[in-house]
Amino acid sequence: MSANFASGTVWTGDNLPVMRGMNDACIDLTPFNSNRDYAAPIGSEAAGAAFKDTWTLSDVDVHEHGELADRHPAAYSVIEAARQAHGKSMQSYLIMMAVRLLEMRRVLKADGSIYLHCDDAAGHWLRALMDAVFGVAAFRNEIVWKRIGNHNDAGRFGRTGDRLLFYGSDIERGGVRVPLSESNAAKYRRTDNRGRYQDTDLTGPKTTEGEAGQPWRGWNPTDIGRCWSVPKTGDYAAWIAENIIPDYLAEESILARLDMLDAADMIVFTANGTPRLKRYLHANPGQVPPDVWTDIPPVNSQAKERTGFPTQKPLALLERVILASTKPDDMILDPFCGCATALVAADRLSRRWVGIDLSALAVKLVDDRIAGDRGSMPWGGALALTAPPARTDLGDLPNYRTHRHRLYGEQEGVCAGCETHFPFRVMDVDHMLPRSRGGTDHPDNLQLLCSGCNRSKGGKTMAEWRATQ
Ligand SMILES: C[S@@+](CC[C@H](N)C(=O)[O-])C[C@H]1O[C@@H](n2cnc3c(N)ncnc32)[C@H](O)[C@@H]1O
Repeated sequence: MSANFASGTVWTGDNLPVMRGMNDACIDLTPFNSNRDYAAPIGSEAAGAAFKDTWTLSDVDVHEHGELADRHPAAYSVIEAARQAHGKSMQSYLIMMAVRLLEMRRVLKADGSIYLHCDDAAGHWLRALMDAVFGVAAFRNEIVWKRIGNHNDAGRFGRTGDRLLFYGSDIERGGVRVPLSESNAAKYRRTDNRGRYQDTDLTGPKTTEGEAGQPWRGWNPTDIGRCWSVPKTGDYAAWIAENIIPDYLAEESILARLDMLDAADMIVFTANGTPRLKRYLHANPGQVPPDVWTDIPPVNSQAKERTGFPTQKPLALLERVILASTKPDDMILDPFCGCATALVAADRLSRRWVGIDLSALAVKLVDDRIAGDRGSMPWGGALALTAPPARTDLGDLPNYRTHRHRLYGEQEGVCAGCETHFPFRVMDVDHMLPRSRGGTDHPDNLQLLCSGCNRSKGGKTMAEWRATQ
């Protein structure tokens, strides 16, 4: 679906109604951090006050509570478990997050990805919630980012890591390679006139009667229950063709490729005559980082990128996430864009982006930081909006009342509220999620209530209304 907003927009306001106004499936990546322990958004009177855990149920729009029970019982069950095991503060925080995660799932493309940055206080509940919302099959990694070097925590091991919960599509491996670890680089022990190399196996498992099972230079892989595995595809084969043997990739015969490699001094023989392939250190494109990231330092107090925002993340962290899960021109949404780090990283990497933050100061931060980051390259400024976008992907929905007959048939004349049978003329079409709260005339959001129930329900969701009965 195409986006119904322009890249470079920053909305000031609650992200829930803004996301509700976005078309289905128009976002490629949502990297975000909603720290449970912030007391006040930037720019508010309380900004700068100690960050502490202030979530209580009254902080959360109680509407969201009922709405969630209506729309997603699985997520609601996770939250109920959190209430029992952890308490009301965690319950409230998860309710706030769950309704927003559901909206993020709707606006993400089917092959999109989401990274939720959290600490170890709420991370396990958020992961259970993300499993419920995005599905266990979409889970990719729980990345631990070593946020600080050392931390003294009385009575326990120092807590130095944050978590990034990653759900979505396979990563673009090429974009995120890092230099080989010392232990991997140390394997390149030998040197020739091309540089450092290690000798590696030229065989694979299984035997075959085909060419891959035939002897070469007096050595037969079949004798040891294996077959030839001589690079034909992949990074190293491409490197050989580009740097050493120009027609290497065109050669179909395995034994002929072995001849070519030998002629180019790419093969060494062990004492018992086993041929092995030279792999050069400088041909190695680096490794994809594992799921523990220790190579990205936090934003230090002297750093040029520092904004003073207590939870600011380093640009390098967001750049890795963006390179792993997007291509140039993809659309990135940070719904808690705070000090703008994700948006600056997106701009730097030529991705399209939009952000949302409760605080009006976020727009200025985005502008200042992008302008600073671009240096002499001009920046026209973010498009600052407060009104949520209006969806353009619902088509021309017919007036909701036209669904009365269909619903009467589907519900077999029974009111969805009191479950009593009524004649057609006393039934009203009701919006399950009221239009005042972003509900649409889409058939999935409609039901029939008897006029008594409809009057009583008013602007509530079903669960809120039931709670008052
Ligand atoms: C923990 S900070 C995120 C900072 C930023 N993403 C980063 O990592 O540098 C949380 C931000 O979310 C904003 N925020 C909190 N609730 C929000 C809501 N319902 N809608 C939009 N923004 C919200 C706050 O104003 C604050 O700037």
